[in-house]
Amino acid sequence: FGKVSKVVCVGAGYVGGPTCAMIAHKCPHVTVTVVDMNKDKIAEWNSDKLPIYEPGLDEIVFAARGRNLFFSSDIPKAIAEADLIFISVNTPTKMYGRGKGMAPDLKYVESVSRTIAQYAVGPKIVVEKSTVPVKAAESIGCILREAQKNNANLKFQVLSNPEFLAEGTAMKDLANPDRVLIGGESSTEGLQAVAELVRIYENWVPRERIITTNTWSSELSKLVANAFLAQRISSINSISAVCEATGAEISEVAHAVGFDTRIGNKFLKASVGFGGSCFQKDVLSLVYLCESLNLPQVAEYWQGVINVNNWQRRRFADKIIAELFNTVTDKKIAIFGFAFKKNTGDTRESSAIHVMKHLMEEHAKLSVYDPKVQKSQMINDLAAVTSADDVTRLVTVETDPYAAARGAHAIVVLTEWDEFVDLDYNKIHDNMQHPAAIFDGRLILDQKALREIGFRTFAIGTAPDQAYNLFGTAGY
Ligand code: NAI
Repeated sequence: FGKVSKVVCVGAGYVGGPTCAMIAHKCPHVTVTVVDMNKDKIAEWNSDKLPIYEPGLDEIVFAARGRNLFFSSDIPKAIAEADLIFISVNTPTKMYGRGKGMAPDLKYVESVSRTIAQYAVGPKIVVEKSTVPVKAAESIGCILREAQKNNANLKFQVLSNPEFLAEGTAMKDLANPDRVLIGGESSTEGLQAVAELVRIYENWVPRERIITTNTWSSELSKLVANAFLAQRISSINSISAVCEATGAEISEVAHAVGFDTRIGNKFLKASVGFGGSCFQKDVLSLVYLCESLNLPQVAEYWQGVINVNNWQRRRFADKIIAELFNTVTDKKIAIFGFAFKKNTGDTRESSAIHVMKHLMEEHAKLSVYDPKVQKSQMINDLAAVTSADDVTRLVTVETDPYAAARGAHAIVVLTEWDEFVDLDYNKIHDNMQHPAAIFDGRLILDQKALREIGFRTFAIGTAPDQAYNLFGTAGY
């Protein structure tokens, strides 16, 4: 393999777009082309309004686009010219057939492999960036080996290079990653291909943070990293229920426990549950893998992480219903936040969808506001878990939080957007039904200040009687 000067990425999504923008930004000598079968998406990447929101993304794309960063729908041409090809397509949980609801759907990865097999000429380094089960590189290799029979020119190596960026902080994570992981074969050609990919990252990542392993360790490490992160959230969320029942305070417990350097203080915030396209999908993928490997104890252990997450969402919705005098039928409830976390417009697997579904089953009238999520997106997401009729009947989407809360019995905070902290809650309280309640599913609001205004408050992991004792108000 010669020196890489042309990089192509198949899949212009949340990973492909930002990752390639960063490579183009940091490697001016490399031409980077991002391709996708979705022509509308490519048109958006070529427009003034990019298809995804990430802080810092616009600047980098606008500066590099047309210089050494290109977005194109001409997949065959891009593949033919590339030295190195990232596969960065979606691998969602399969919703049909064998492994339904558990296994990742690998049809997109396979389809890209076949396209590469069809159009590739000469040497190609093929890099799995999508999150895949262990041994997926073997399937890609098998398809390419078959193509070699009719194309003697084709030479390839398949590497694993999983992506660890987090949405909302993607550009920061890409510019300054904790580590870059590259897995490959230990053959001479394998090592050569790994060295070429290392050389790309070395343009901005210190060499000691670039880890090289065998292919299977790399594939598995991505699943394990997400499983550990999800597990931490389920761990603290499980303890939040203990706090609510005892008078311990979850923020204090997390603080005290996180001070232990072996445990660490990051990612220990209780909430209404994790969302996003990856955690649930990747933990389920690990569970399915373990079941397939006949390791039921391991599968059961990790399935517990998902079970706690589903329970936390349900528990929160039940709390809302119980505190609103056991009925929310026809009551207006304001929903603050729909994205799965702040600083992204992504709603995939957002806890908001699940909490809202539970409230809709009780015929609550939901009025939702999110600064970055489009109305059509919310309606589609909710219709997928309830029905289009229910959504029309029960959900309105507002463009400002004050309108969402006007006339409501309660506010439910489901995304930790900074702007929710600084709202004028006096004004909001004046315009609500009384008693007015706030349910903070993200622990971002000042409960004491809200109670002083007159709100009844409920925060995850805070015992109600403790609030009473501490602040002396007969609130929640
Ligand atoms: P996405 O859904 O935003 O983007 C995937 C893109 O691939 C879509 O635009 C789709 O049109 C395109 N595509 C699918 N099949 C294709 C084909 N045969 N030819 C051309 N284009 C095709 O997905 P996202 O979020 O970027 O995820 C991609 C992978 O990265 C997944 O495996 C995911 O698990 C992983 N990942 C995602 C992270 C995230 O925060 N979203 C973080 C780390 C990894």
